[in-house]
Amino acid sequence: MKKLIFATNNKGKLKEMQLLLPNIEIISLNDINWTEEIDEPFDTFHENALIKAVTIFKATQLPVLSDDSGLCIHALNGAPGVHSAYYGGHPRTDQKNINKVLEELDGVAQREAYFKAILCLIWDGQVHYFEGNVDGRIANSPMGEDGFGYDPIFVPEGYQESFAQLPMDIKNKLSHRAIAVQQLLTFLNA
Ligand code: IMP
Repeated sequence: MKKLIFATNNKGKLKEMQLLLPNIEIISLNDINWTEEIDEPFDTFHENALIKAVTIFKATQLPVLSDDSGLCIHALNGAPGVHSAYYGGHPRTDQKNINKVLEELDGVAQREAYFKAILCLIWDGQVHYFEGNVDGRIANSPMGEDGFGYDPIFVPEGYQESFAQLPMDIKNKLSHRAIAVQQLLTFLNA
């Protein structure tokens, strides 16, 4: 079985990745006793994904996968975008992030948005990127308890329920992360 360290402390991302890659052994940062937050100082998903992967690769020399992702809202010129994790301020909570988005969109009719994920893989010492996007819209209020991050306010195109209401197997067919993972699987032939 192929092995990858998944460079995230985000439990929601980790759970999804384990379900999306059942034939790959996913080693978490917890498993390698890595507790530090890795800074994400850049303004692009690619650069932030790269720094997370490179940081862990330098420490371990093992194959590493990282995910930099976020919610991009057209009416907010693409915000929160790369700043999705801390949009509501420090320390971050999903609730504060969601509240900030709903405040910014208060009274705004144009609610189209998309999630973007950039995966960065370091394999045989080479860097590879995979990308996925999913279109949808921002709900007027949070709906559902499952998932993580902005899931309760994101309704994917063609559905009435949010990512936090839809069963995980549906999110894992539609999502930005799922689309990027399909390309990763093709690359790894896994
Ligand atoms: P980062 O990739 O660590 O910078 O964090 C990305 C942030 O975007 C997460 O903390 C979530 O708030 C949000 N995000 C990314 N993917 C998803 C998703 O699948 N559902 C909900 N929120 C997400």
